[in-house]
Amino acid sequence: MTTSLHQRPFQPAFSHRFLPASLHYSNLPQRPISLFSRAGLLSLLALMLILGVIVPWADMPGGIFSVNKASSVNQWRHYTLPQAASFVAKNGTLIVCAVSQAYLPFLNNWLISISRQKRQDMVLVIAEDYATLDKVNERWPGHAVLIPPALDSQAAHKFGSQGFFNFTARRPQHLLNILELGYSVMYNDVDMVWLGDPFTYLRGLHDVYFTDDMAAVKPLDHSHDLPPPGKKGRTYICSCMIFLRPTDGAKLVMKKWIEELQAQPWSRAKKANDQPAFNWALMKTTGQVDVYLLPQSAFPTGGLYFKNKTWVQGTKGKHVIIHNNYIVGFEKKIKRFRDYGLWLVDDHAKESPLGKL
Ligand SMILES: *[C@@H]1O[C@H](CO)[C@@H](O)[C@H](O)[C@H]1NC(C)=O
Ligand SMILES: *[C@@H]1O[C@H](CO)[C@@H](O)[C@H](O)[C@H]1NC(C)=O
Ligand SMILES: *[C@@H]1O[C@H](CO)[C@@H](O)[C@H](O)[C@H]1NC(C)=O
Repeated sequence: MTTSLHQRPFQPAFSHRFLPASLHYSNLPQRPISLFSRAGLLSLLALMLILGVIVPWADMPGGIFSVNKASSVNQWRHYTLPQAASFVAKNGTLIVCAVSQAYLPFLNNWLISISRQKRQDMVLVIAEDYATLDKVNERWPGHAVLIPPALDSQAAHKFGSQGFFNFTARRPQHLLNILELGYSVMYNDVDMVWLGDPFTYLRGLHDVYFTDDMAAVKPLDHSHDLPPPGKKGRTYICSCMIFLRPTDGAKLVMKKWIEELQAQPWSRAKKANDQPAFNWALMKTTGQVDVYLLPQSAFPTGGLYFKNKTWVQGTKGKHVIIHNNYIVGFEKKIKRFRDYGLWLVDDHAKESPLGKL
């Protein structure tokens, strides 16, 4: 990804306790009571009853009313990738994203656009923190999984930071795990909006499909090969949208991507993200892997779609996925989506399987 979803931290949503508020000892009689009067005996009985019933509850953290809630939430802590993948996959294929809590509005926007193509049933959200896991599964049971360890979500927001690098560096391993289970997988960043169904563009039986992040206009009939390297000695393929078949070739690229990330870890000077390593992996496996560059007219980089009106006019009706990159900042991304009528959560949240968040 070329730009960030720079974040404000969100407050954790699970600070409620469910202690019954009405049960206070101040409800007990205040005036002196004679044990021998009828009223006194009744009061004593009531007191014993109250103490006998309430005190054991009071020992339990959260009280008994939270037990059901806690166990229904905890059930997802043991939900594994093989279980989630087999629950969600259609025709052996998954659509996957990886999100932390602050990205939930973008997740919802992306999901609305996918629902319009009737592909939402295939979506598996890889939650990077427990708040996201619980939120998605509470509203849409089974569609989120957390692959431990959970990240410190506060650290994972700022583009160029080590936390953000650590967050994105997990992506090839997640994808490799899914391939090893035998599924095809489409990965998307969630700052994307579908205008059409990308699956009809996955022609042939190649190992890896991807899009170019270069903004330079290509001819409509451009080659589907890996483009030549650019100024930095490497290609500029986007790690934001990738389709993989469960082949040796696709697995090799994921393994190489992991190696490249380990060989060039994050440094203060470089402030790397995961995309260069993906490009080195593609270049170093050339000849061993069957790759397919998707058409620019259908999958334009944000650097083209949001910056060249002439091109957008000339390719009208051909756009399939719009990526809101080449811009830094959470608020700026939302504003740009709004300006282009692509921020769907304002008016169409009902169309999301998560509803209004
Ligand atoms: C199922 O997957 C196969 C192989 O990937 C593909 O050729 C076929 O069109 C898919 N069928 C549907 C209904 O999507
Ligand atoms: C990122 O990962 C490295 C290596 O695993 C670790 O030392 C570092 O503390 C992590 N940083 C953040 C901010 O998560
Ligand atoms: C914008 O798109 C038009 C039409 O495709 C193209 O001729 C022109 O070179 C593009 N402009 C830039 C700055 O890339």
